[in-house]
Amino acid sequence: MKIAVLKEGEAGERRVAASPETVKKFTALGAGVAVENGAGENAAVADADYEAAGATTGTRADVLKDADIILCVQGPDPATLTGVKSGALLVGGLNPVGQRARIDAYAAAGLDTLAMEWMPRITRAQSMDILSSQSNLAGYKAVLDAAAEYGRAFPMMMTAAGTVSAAKLFVMGVGVAGLQAIATGRRLGAQVSATDVRSATKEQILSLGAKPIFVESVAGIEGEGAGGYATEMSEEYKKAQAELVSSHIAKQDIVITTALIPGRPAPRLISDAQLATMKPGSVIVDLAVEQGGNVEGAKAGEVAVVHGVKIVGHRNVPSRLAADSSALFARNLFNFLSAFWDAETKAPVLPDDDEIVKGIRLTHGGKVVHERLLG
Ligand code: NAI
Repeated sequence: MKIAVLKEGEAGERRVAASPETVKKFTALGAGVAVENGAGENAAVADADYEAAGATTGTRADVLKDADIILCVQGPDPATLTGVKSGALLVGGLNPVGQRARIDAYAAAGLDTLAMEWMPRITRAQSMDILSSQSNLAGYKAVLDAAAEYGRAFPMMMTAAGTVSAAKLFVMGVGVAGLQAIATGRRLGAQVSATDVRSATKEQILSLGAKPIFVESVAGIEGEGAGGYATEMSEEYKKAQAELVSSHIAKQDIVITTALIPGRPAPRLISDAQLATMKPGSVIVDLAVEQGGNVEGAKAGEVAVVHGVKIVGHRNVPSRLAADSSALFARNLFNFLSAFWDAETKAPVLPDDDEIVKGIRLTHGGKVVHERLLG
């Protein structure tokens, strides 16, 4: 069983899909690991570190030759996979909808592709969930990015020269990233408030010492759909939320937005008119910028300035903490593959009827098989 680890090819991608720790663990399961030259160089892992952990290193052609499993962070350009063995597993964050043409090409190459971002949100799969591990770090980094752009301090400071008041930080969308943004803002000494459409998050906000800001006036809203994700809200709710946000946002110094709805563009939470009410020098970090953005005027890959408010729209925020995000991503991949490992054949066995396999398998036997990609 040969596992290949690719050097990522997408612009700005600094992560890597294996760590020396996971190389050791795969080796202990009886697999051989081959890492592409320089794969970890942007995530603080040298080729020598992989070799010390028991891997070989080599060119892409070397690592792909006879590989049974190919690990990646983002799906590779199919043109770079020449020589790949038919039936090999390709495992990573494959962006199945955004990179649909690539999925077809993987099928044509006979690859059995597994998209880790479609991991079902069930207890058994928690340790395999790349969205969680990466969102957690993104939520942390978003607050640091805001602090770096903000021309003031976060904590209250009483000095001989006078008092510096605490920054007011508002988190919109309290999933995995939002919870970590709240915790990070609190650690830095900001006064933190937060909102979400899922009422279950109110308790979580309170437990982190932040203030919940919730629409109470619209009856019958829950906002929680399948798998713990948010659903699209009613027009009545959206109007009430906009009014609530307008009055709150004008008093905030920092806003972190993280709101996503699976399979839809990110909900618009802050309009240009609302931006105009904010104090100049305020900072917004829009973590949903690559899914269409929560903030009007946010631009992917840029720090835009609108009405004197900085809107930070960094792409691929987890990659900005490449060492930690890679280590957690690598563990997610190991936790998945090892859970399906057959000790005798020293290979993963992926039953067709398993909930996890059904959730993430995109192509099999030369065909696209996932129901979300068919029809
Ligand atoms: P997400 O990244 O899809 O969305 C981020 C947040 O935005 C969510 O809390 C969502 O409710 C909120 N949101 C959506 N529309 C909004 C709007 N119009 N206004 C304000 N907020 C809005 O969510 P994420 O971080 O992936 O987590 C979703 C849920 O899944 C959480 O309850 C989390 O605890 C759960 N989860 C379960 C796992 C498991 O059991 N394996 C693993 C990871 C998360």
